[in-house]
Amino acid sequence: MSLSEHSIDDAKATALAAIASAASLEELKEIKVAHIGDRSPIARANQQLGTLSPEERASFGKIIGQAKNAIAAAFEARNFLLEEERDARVLVEERVDVTIPAKRTLKGGLHPLTILTNEICDLFLGLGYRVAEGPELEAEWLNFDALNLPEDHPARTMQDTFFIEPLDSHLVLRTHTSPVQVRTMLEEKPPIYVICPGRTYRADELDATHTPVFSQVEGLVIDKGITMADLKGTLDHFARSIFGSDVKTRLRSSFFPFTEPSAEVDFFFNGRWIEWGGCGMVNPKVLIACGIDPDIYSGFAFGMGLERTLMVRHGITDMHDIVEGDVRFSQSFGLGVK
Ligand code: FA5
Ligand code: MG
Repeated sequence: MSLSEHSIDDAKATALAAIASAASLEELKEIKVAHIGDRSPIARANQQLGTLSPEERASFGKIIGQAKNAIAAAFEARNFLLEEERDARVLVEERVDVTIPAKRTLKGGLHPLTILTNEICDLFLGLGYRVAEGPELEAEWLNFDALNLPEDHPARTMQDTFFIEPLDSHLVLRTHTSPVQVRTMLEEKPPIYVICPGRTYRADELDATHTPVFSQVEGLVIDKGITMADLKGTLDHFARSIFGSDVKTRLRSSFFPFTEPSAEVDFFFNGRWIEWGGCGMVNPKVLIACGIDPDIYSGFAFGMGLERTLMVRHGITDMHDIVEGDVRFSQSFGLGVK
């Protein structure tokens, strides 16, 4: 294109017409490349300025500059308009009706046993206890010997205990949470106030009141001057907070090798006494095995079955409901997420 006022006017008119006719932002973008970009007629005219004499360069420079400004202004105006149109359209097309009821996605929830465990831990944390845990695969010595259960104790037989092969590994699936007592006493010096929830295993058949995999919660207190009255008071408080403020408990004389004296703790619920768990004053032999001087310290321990606790509190009549994992059962307890 040879440089003339006419050709610049022409290029400007074509560009302005194209911009005015752009129906969408995409079209406008292409028009920008063709009429404003490096290879547009106006840009090329600008490049030719260098070949002109100084006077011509000044006058053409002015004309080209004005043309460029006019095209750029037209482009901005059109762009603004088309963007406004698009925004208005998007608002309509992508409108969200906030009054439509939301679809609730199921996020899952806690198992009722977990809810109960958390509730019990919260209760004892409030009394100044600490939560302790131990392994489910436990040393035979901690599960039995250290708890004063001798080699020939019936609980150690094949019928009750899951032994782990090879037998000389001396590992068992813990039959109760009481080995956590021993672990705690070996690791810590009194005063000790711990609550230990956990899974336990026994070779029992699954029936309405038994399951081979069940849960217990163990409590252990070792301090100066601890008596059976402290044990009874703690159990009463525990029972009342789990079953209701009017529940009664009783201690029934019993035997556990690791407590002396020992008792079964029962509570009175819906007109009958129900066995809840075992308890007693920690046997001095166990204290000595754990390096604690029984002349200075005394303590109590208790251990309750959590499935049985849940069954009684919620009127569950069959253990199968707790272990089978049917989500409809869990749902009736709510999500349990705080
Ligand atoms: C014990 O396991 C003792 N370690 C409790 C204890 C702790 C005594 C501290 C003294 C001091 P026992 O074997 O009775 O005790 O079991 C306690 C509770 O576990 C029972 O009352 C019952 O609620 C629960 N339990 C036992 N076996 C099963 C089972 N197969 N299925 C469900 N719950 C069970
Ligand atoms: Mg028992």
